[in-house]
Amino acid sequence: MENLTPRKEDLDPIEIASRDELSALQLQRMQWTLNHAYENSPFYKAHFDKAGVHPSDLKTLSDLAKFPFTQKTDLRDTYPFGMFSVPREKLARIHASSGTTGKPVVVGYTHNDIEVWATLVARSIRAAGGRPGDVLHNAYGYGLFTGGLGAHYGAEKLGCTVVPISGGMTERQVSLIQDFKPRIIMVTPSYMLSILDEFHRQGLDPRESSLAIGIFGAEPWTNAMRQEIEQAFDMHAVDIYGLSEIMGPGVANECVETKDGLHIWEDHFYPEIINPETGEVLPDGEEGELVFTTLTKEGLPIIRYRTRDLTRLLPGTSRTMRRMEKITGRSDDMIILRGVNVFPTQIEEQILKCHGLTPHFQIELNRSSSRMDSMTVNVECQPNAADENTRNFSAKELAHHIKSIVGISTIVNVTLPGTLLRSEGKAKRVIDNRPKR
Ligand code: DLL
Repeated sequence: MENLTPRKEDLDPIEIASRDELSALQLQRMQWTLNHAYENSPFYKAHFDKAGVHPSDLKTLSDLAKFPFTQKTDLRDTYPFGMFSVPREKLARIHASSGTTGKPVVVGYTHNDIEVWATLVARSIRAAGGRPGDVLHNAYGYGLFTGGLGAHYGAEKLGCTVVPISGGMTERQVSLIQDFKPRIIMVTPSYMLSILDEFHRQGLDPRESSLAIGIFGAEPWTNAMRQEIEQAFDMHAVDIYGLSEIMGPGVANECVETKDGLHIWEDHFYPEIINPETGEVLPDGEEGELVFTTLTKEGLPIIRYRTRDLTRLLPGTSRTMRRMEKITGRSDDMIILRGVNVFPTQIEEQILKCHGLTPHFQIELNRSSSRMDSMTVNVECQPNAADENTRNFSAKELAHHIKSIVGISTIVNVTLPGTLLRSEGKAKRVIDNRPKR
């Protein structure tokens, strides 16, 4: 694979500024944000008053710990427009994320917010090895989801030629990749696997495609999956992270030259890691829940937003900004099976160790009449490992790996190629059939 290390002169100066310079900028922006939210959002005025804090209490970055958290329920309770810090007519755009329960979470952007967002997605694409003039195939969904339009504006800002195909119609995705010869693809990792299948179905060699860089995110994926995709397409696979409440894609991105976790664009978002049980701030290096404070958002500034995503903060390497380790999963996606905590990413890692299996999988949780919970892993076999004996062998091998490494007994069901539902966006990894309490 090509060496894609960007030239220093192409980076934004703040990406390689000193840590002191970055901290000074963060403090100034954080003070602005707290004042802006307190003065213009009735929600934040009441929220701070109730907690007995005032923006003037923030003298250093660590004073942020005095301020109360913001949660998803706060956005839902103020649905649709109650959290904004500017009058509605100042908003240039609305996005929303549906989630699995309740009302959608609605977010809004001023013109300036959209400009900052585009700049940060452009920075992310550049960190992944993208350059002005590249053709970029954007298969993130367009619409209320932030993925499609977020990636689109950033790619245009960097100077790429965007193919705004959105998600779905996989056959056409492959034809357009063949015809337009994009150097970059932006898509969820699970949908990239569906695109890979379609290459094979059409008798095409994915390693011969024009794709050199994939920028994958919107759902958890493992380093084992990275290797699988890089190998299959002979391309670089780089992680992009974001969430609607904070902005959308481009809150953090991996650098292609190191692929060692995602650099958080800390000049615009201040990260903390907290103990999810107690809310206490943890030192860098310790795993916990990621919390973000926006530093420049006008429309919807958010203070100490609890993302539910689990990771840890690490020092910067190829950039000054701190890194977050690849997300293990969301605390909401954690499966508690007979007292053991399990994330779908841990199962993915074990599947990718077994030769006869593909990364197409789904986890089913059931409760038997004896009230015992069980986990079934449905996973597709490779086409050349589809006979019954080999499938039985693969099932035993996977069950053994999961038992010895993750520590739980599972039922493994190895299915024939093409039998599991394919993702066209975010994959649904877990089906929980257990009765709700
Ligand atoms: O998924 C924004 C996005 C679009 C990010 C395209 C990257 C690419 P939401 O729909 O609000 O926004 O979902 C946000 O998705 O809290 C994480 O749980 C998960 N997530 C996003 N990126 C990653 C990633 C978009 N790289 C939620 N790794 C977040 C793991 C991710 N999880």
